[in-house]
Amino acid sequence: RLHRVPLVPKVLIVGSGGREHALAQALKRSPQQPELIAAPGNPGIAQIARCVPVPITDVDALTDLAVSEAVDLVVIGPEAPLVAGLADRLAEVKIAAFGPSGAAAQLEGSKAFAKEVMAAAGVPTADWQEVESVDAGLQAISSYPAVLKFDGLAAGKGVVIAQDEQQAREALSEMLEARRFGDGVVVVEEFMEGEELSLFALCDGERAVPLVPAQDYKRIFDGDEGPNTGGMGAYSPVPNAPDSDELCAQVHQPVVDLLRERGTPFRGLLYAGLMLTSEGAKVVEFNVRFGDPETQVVLPRLKSDLLAALTATTRPGGLAGIELDFDDRCGVTVVLASRGYPETSSSGDEISGLDDLPSSIEVTHAGTAQTDDGTIVTAGGRVLNVTALGDTAADAREAVYAAIDPIRFDGRQYRTDIALRAVKQPT
Ligand code: AMP
Ligand code: GLY
Repeated sequence: RLHRVPLVPKVLIVGSGGREHALAQALKRSPQQPELIAAPGNPGIAQIARCVPVPITDVDALTDLAVSEAVDLVVIGPEAPLVAGLADRLAEVKIAAFGPSGAAAQLEGSKAFAKEVMAAAGVPTADWQEVESVDAGLQAISSYPAVLKFDGLAAGKGVVIAQDEQQAREALSEMLEARRFGDGVVVVEEFMEGEELSLFALCDGERAVPLVPAQDYKRIFDGDEGPNTGGMGAYSPVPNAPDSDELCAQVHQPVVDLLRERGTPFRGLLYAGLMLTSEGAKVVEFNVRFGDPETQVVLPRLKSDLLAALTATTRPGGLAGIELDFDDRCGVTVVLASRGYPETSSSGDEISGLDDLPSSIEVTHAGTAQTDDGTIVTAGGRVLNVTALGDTAADAREAVYAAIDPIRFDGRQYRTDIALRAVKQPT
């Protein structure tokens, strides 16, 4: 029997953010020299991939695109198309997809489902209760601060840390009575104290293989002040992080085993958001895709062929032969955001200084657009991500902040303390 051996693999990347640009850059480094297509992509991705204007929410059109382009692999970046079942649709048309089925993606799509899976798989996490009314929510809280999570996708805005009963009542009422995020219940959770850590693992339905840990900075201002954002920066490695293989054995592998037993195997990337508490690591949340901006700092450290690794997740047991080697250097990523972020964002501000950056600096586009005359302008809250590697966290910080200085746009804002923890507490 003859097999079709594609000389140049064709890969479709779904998404348009900094994460997808980092995925495209890492895939571009593959010795297989893939042809890259992106839907919809962004002006940065367009420098290395052919961008097709299909939105991430249009599962039918994305499936049609994958078929008409006869791609070898679809790399699904964001959670929304995964929860909407894009990987299932691609399976029906026999196209390999990096990313879990809609059923397995419920680990991110539903906080209550994730909690039930963690309980059944014996994965350490905060105590919790599911509630459907404001009164039940207030009764479920035994002490403050208390954590209230809307049970559905809410773009990172569905979590409230209530300091007292009045804040808890307001948050519960907004989620359950005003239905700010639509229909859904609320998970009331014990507050965990500690440092946060993101650990990604590639999964092939049977095995989970960890990448390197990263730490994300979620608040808008230096010193972790101000409201939560999608993420303002990240660094890797992380001082005092527990061993990744041990964390993976405690957290990712039991979930993969359980979902396999249940007939909904987990393939793709399982992201554990962890809290390093005095009682050990506990799961804050699972995501079913690469994290943003952690990917921008983890993938530049990957020395192995990302395309081979992502492709291996699409076959049961496929990761058995895959080695993931990482650069020992430290990576730092800083997010440049537009005026008003995270409450609002500003569009159309001209960005200058992108052309003469040192080759050691990786810039990924997150919220940019290109005007008819070729000018790159802002088009969203998180605009650009700037990444550098260095022998120490201090070196990487110095390189990244030096590179940021000439990149200008009206209203530019960024944190100046990314990876400062790693400088004070070297790995
Ligand atoms: P999540 O969307 O579940 O990741 O929550 C967003 C952020 O809220 C997390 O990154 C934490 O900073 C914080 N958070 C969530 N759950 C807890 C918890 N149980 N204890 C302390 N902080 C939490
Ligand atoms: N960096 C947080 C996330 O990707 O959800």
